[in-house]
Amino acid sequence: MLDFELNRQSCIQCGECVGDCPARIIAMDADGYPSILLEKESTCLRCQHCLAICPTGAISILGFRAAGSRLLDGGYPDPDKLETLMKGRRSVRRYRAENLEPELLQRLLDVAWHAPTGVNSRQVRFTVLDDKAKVARLRDEVMVGLVRLYNDGALPKGSEYFSRFIQIWEKHNVDLIFRDAPHMLVASAPRSVACPKEDCMIALSYFELFAHSCGVGTLWNGLAKWAIDELLPETRHLLGIPDDHLLGYAMLFGKPAVHYARTVQHGPTMIHRAL
Ligand SMILES: Cc1cc2nc3c(=O)[nH]c(=O)nc-3n(C[C@H](O)[C@H](O)[C@H](O)COP(=O)(O)O)c2cc1C
Repeated sequence: MLDFELNRQSCIQCGECVGDCPARIIAMDADGYPSILLEKESTCLRCQHCLAICPTGAISILGFRAAGSRLLDGGYPDPDKLETLMKGRRSVRRYRAENLEPELLQRLLDVAWHAPTGVNSRQVRFTVLDDKAKVARLRDEVMVGLVRLYNDGALPKGSEYFSRFIQIWEKHNVDLIFRDAPHMLVASAPRSVACPKEDCMIALSYFELFAHSCGVGTLWNGLAKWAIDELLPETRHLLGIPDDHLLGYAMLFGKPAVHYARTVQHGPTMIHRAL
């Protein structure tokens, strides 16, 4: 049941909800008001475009009322500032040894939860290590496992890069994989959804940009992802990632112990204008 409800007093019969519905299941009824026929409900994408587009807030759907939404007009960030954020974001590899405030962590996750997903499946699951002691525990498990694989000559071909990190850990107790970050986020999604990998990557990109805007640093972590997902499946179980989930990616985050003064320069954009 979609619980599509219309407040006829505030509906101005503009038809915007009809025109914007991606599933094209909203139609004007005999009185000229939008409605959804029961037999069409199953094709709804649950995207809430009808609720979002209604200029007068007359539509509720799925139990959500317009009053619970944030108004958009005038609320977007200045493009120059957003450009500075997007160009100024850096991979943070030095962190302060402190946890984020729980409210801030929750806010970052709630914003990332608004990332788009293929067919609006919205099945991305955030596995979060919300305390630096938890990341340290995972790090210790991973390092013990990697050292064992390394000593047994059991690291797969092409992991020479990894071997260097293991040696540095063994010799100097310096962690170049988890970087002493206080937090880690893993995005996973059921393999059965339309775009599990893409959904996870987009959610983490959302998380990253919003985190940076809040003064929180992040690091995409292919090394941790590889170790957890491919080399040491027991750590995947330790994290409680469901067996039917594709592990999208891992991201470290926390308060940075570093401050970047300027953007880097990437040279001319590589563009191929086709046709
Ligand atoms: C998919 C992906 C995986 C990455 N994995 C790692 C990693 O395991 N360790 C690391 O130190 N950096 C990792 N990085 C960070 C890149 O090295 C970094 O983005 C690049 O050097 C450019 O630096 P910048 O992000 O500060 O612009 C990864 C980045 C991406 C996008």
